[in-house]
Amino acid sequence: MNIIDIALKEKCYKIYIERGILKSAGEKLKSVYRDRSIVVITDHNVEKLYLDALKKSLLDNGFKVNTISIAPGEKSKTLGVLEEVYEKLCKFNTRRSDIIVSLGGGVVGDLAGFAAATYLRGIRYIQVPTSILAQVDSSVGGKVAVDLPWGKNLVGNFYHPDAIFIDPEVLISLNDKFFSDGMSEVIKYGFIRDKSILKDLNSYSKKNETLDNMENIIYKCCNIKKQLVETDERDLGDRMILNFGHTLGHSLERYYDYGKYSHGEAVSIGMACITKRTEEMGITENGTYDYMKCILKKYGLPTHMPDLDRQVIINSIALDKKSLGENLINLIVLEEVGKAKIMKVKISQVYDFLFSDKIK
Ligand code: GLY
Repeated sequence: MNIIDIALKEKCYKIYIERGILKSAGEKLKSVYRDRSIVVITDHNVEKLYLDALKKSLLDNGFKVNTISIAPGEKSKTLGVLEEVYEKLCKFNTRRSDIIVSLGGGVVGDLAGFAAATYLRGIRYIQVPTSILAQVDSSVGGKVAVDLPWGKNLVGNFYHPDAIFIDPEVLISLNDKFFSDGMSEVIKYGFIRDKSILKDLNSYSKKNETLDNMENIIYKCCNIKKQLVETDERDLGDRMILNFGHTLGHSLERYYDYGKYSHGEAVSIGMACITKRTEEMGITENGTYDYMKCILKKYGLPTHMPDLDRQVIINSIALDKKSLGENLINLIVLEEVGKAKIMKVKISQVYDFLFSDKIK
């Protein structure tokens, strides 16, 4: 088992990475908590695959277990669904001493984490992420949120779990689309901080070979996230490099009402488009874009900007929470493979960073 310690000013917790850990979660929790009630929050897809195994492990170790299952997908990350979750927590008579366990991908983790952060002014929670994206990124670092009609993650908090249990074995059930979706975030880590990740990914010939090495890949990604979160918990400095590709990515997701591109696909287009332009502008080392395009394609990810109303994209970027006011925005760009930096850019210049030709 790989263990990573997250040491923050006000809270320390561990990430446990091990094949099959889902089935021993109850035993691990029993050593810390006793006689508690647990509410597992999951979605209808993950429920079918993994709820029984987790529940058995919790029940066998003396916990009382209730379950809340939401519809899968970004469209569930709303205040409406959150209210339904609160209602069920009340019906289960959930108290401050009880624990929420989030079992699922990024949507479930963000929503369950936000419910934990706010219900009764905050109760303990554990993350059991089941998608690649959640295992390497969203379950770590305490960002919890729901979306508003005007944008993603506009209401949220920083609220850390007591522990994160990562079971790479559950990734075997991911179909190709969800596999590619998550690999986009893994590739992002390679480009912003650690080119050895890209070397590894390039050396695997098939999806199965990548999955066989997933424990190590997750460990490398979570270690990068640990360093960024420990030095910049509130996302005011270095941590922002994790947003590489996300400014355009979020706007693309929103533009198509979360129906056309998955998060990872949108981020892939975001990383490729900005890197193409920053290379042309002389900010990024030559050859970076071609290398990126090659690896994104290898993992089944799109790299081309679709034909769309560009002004709508620019307007939605201006609304993004990374906007700094005074018409400035933080854009994450690469200097070279493995090295990202934050650039403060005027909203009026963002167009140039994303599109080669003039507005149409
Ligand atoms: N997912 C980006 C962050 O946690 O900062």
